[in-house]
Order: sequence, then C-alpha cells, then structure tokens
Amino acid sequence: MPKITVIGAGAVGATAAQRIAEKELGDVVLTDIVEGLPQGKALDLLEAGPICGYDSRLLGTNDYKDIEGSDVVVITAGIARKPGMTREDLLKINSKIIREVSQNIARYAPDSVIITVTNPLDLMTYLTMKTTNFEPNRVFGMSGVLDSGRFAAFIAMELGCSVRDISAMVLGGHGDTMVPLPRFTTVSGVPITELMPEDTISRLVERTVNGGAEIVNLLKTGSAFYAPSAAVTNMVEAVIKNTKRILPACACLGGEYGKKDIYLGVPVKLGRSGVEEIVELKLTDGERKALDRSAQAVSSGIISLNALL
Ligand code: APR
Repeated sequence: MPKITVIGAGAVGATAAQRIAEKELGDVVLTDIVEGLPQGKALDLLEAGPICGYDSRLLGTNDYKDIEGSDVVVITAGIARKPGMTREDLLKINSKIIREVSQNIARYAPDSVIITVTNPLDLMTYLTMKTTNFEPNRVFGMSGVLDSGRFAAFIAMELGCSVRDISAMVLGGHGDTMVPLPRFTTVSGVPITELMPEDTISRLVERTVNGGAEIVNLLKTGSAFYAPSAAVTNMVEAVIKNTKRILPACACLGGEYGKKDIYLGVPVKLGRSGVEEIVELKLTDGERKALDRSAQAVSSGIISLNALL
C-alpha cells in the first residue's frame, strides 16, 4: 500500500484522511501538534474500516519520524480563516507553521510529493517548495479543483443539470483575483457561454470567487472542509494511481503563461512524479489581463512573505 501523510488533523485534514481511506488510496498517517487529536481521529477512522469495508491502516501521531517513507504528504496544518479575515491575514501565522512542517517533511520524507492546502495557498505552496528545496514539480497546491468544483456546483444549480457533465476551469491565485474561465467551462462539451446569458455567468463567477467567504460567513467558527478535502483527495488519487489527469493546480511556472518563479493556478497533468506538464491554454486578451492581475497579487504576496522570513 502507498503511504499518504496528512499533516494537520483539523477539519480539512481529518476529512481528507477519511476520504483517502474510504478510497483505499493507501495507508494514512495523520499528524498534528495537538497531543491526542491525530491519535483519536485516526483510531476512530481505523474502527470505521470494518464497517465501511476499507483496509487502509491509519496511524495518528505527533512524531514526524512516523511520516518516514511517505509517497504523498498533504499539508493542512495552520489556522483557518475566521469571519472578516482574508486569506492574506493568515500569512503571518501560517508561514511560521509551514516552515516548521516543511523542514520536517524534507528531513523525514525527502522523496515525497507534497500537496499544500493551507492558506494563503499560493504563498504557502511557494514557501513549502523553498523550505524543502524539493524540485518544483514535486510541490504543488490545491486550489483550482476546489474553485472549479464550486463553479460547477453553481452552474448545475442554475441549469438544473447533472454536475457530472460539467467540466469547469478556474485559473490564477486562490483568492479574490482568481480567474474562472467561462470559455473553457463546458456542459457535455458545450461552453457555458452558449448556454447562459452574460449576466448570469457574471453572477456565478462572482459567487465562485467569493465561495470560501460564503461558507466562512455561514459557519462562523471555521472554514470550508468538505469540498476542500474532496478536492485534495482527487489530487492524491491522480498522483498515487499515476492517472495523468489534467486538473487545475497551484504550480510553479517556469516561463509558461509568460511567468517565472511564481506559483499560480494553471491546468497541469498530474502523475506519480507530481506535476508532469503545465498545460498552456490560448487566452484572449481579457483572460490574459485577468491572469496577469492575479499573478501580480501573488507576486506582491511573495514580497511580503520574503520580508517576513
Ligand atoms: N504542526 C502540525 N499541525 C498544526 C500546526 C503545526 N505546527 N499548527 C497547527 N496545526 C494543526 C492544528 O492543531 C489543527 O488541528 O492544524 C490543524 C488545522 O485544522 P483546523 O483549525 O480545523 O483548520 P482547517 O479547517 O482544517 O483548515 C486548515 O486549510 O483550507 C485551509 O484555510 C484553511 O489554512 C487552513 C487549512
């Protein structure tokens, strides 16, 4: 069985561990700084195995030594957004956590592929790569699968059609400047630009951009975790099973889309070695401008981040 580590046994991490076990993608190690929390949740999930019918073994621990030999490491450790807090507010607290977590991954799981989930996502993924010093293709972030999932859910509600027929595409940073792409978002191959008037699309795009905040405002004491854990599980599956799925991910650009040394949401091919290819879409001027604006926001975030280090 492959070995998958989930760091952070909170809402996203524990739900991801559950989904990974239920799909039997591998054995799961769940870690956290809080004593007893990962142990309790892992044991509970282990005891669910005979009931649900999965053979994945689960281990909860506070000791990084237990992550040795991990094939994939998912990072969810950090503070979640509270109402009124932007992802950027999280930068200070979470960058300290990500540095500590990344140093331990580099030490104990030097051959792993890392998927970062902690916000602010683009910056935390960049920091993970810089701290571990892993090749950029082995470090990427979960953003676009979640954002395009939200977009697809809103489209399905609007059209009264099955979510299964929708393929949505969202590029850019995981924040207010994300770039949902209606031209590349289809229902059974038909772009939504042919199925809905422009103002309806704008409304759904707006709701997608604010999707995270909408959940935070409803929950009041935490942020989204069902859809984020489902999104990262899809990415873990693509890596573990080497499926070569093309999914939007926060990836390190090396000249693609005219950008370098920046992490940004783009379509990638995912396989056993992580990001195996960055897919370049032909964008219109307007789409490219929106992506540039998003890249600009991430670049200024990187400057603030570097100032903190
Ligand atoms: N090492 C390991 N775990 C840590 C550390 C650390 N240094 N610091 C915090 N944690 C753990 C916390 O103890 C907590 O159990 O990370 C967990 C985070 O869980 P939640 O607070 O429930 O947050 P969650 O909703 O899971 O979100 C986690 O994912 O989607 C993003 O914005 C979200 O950045 C946030 C992250």
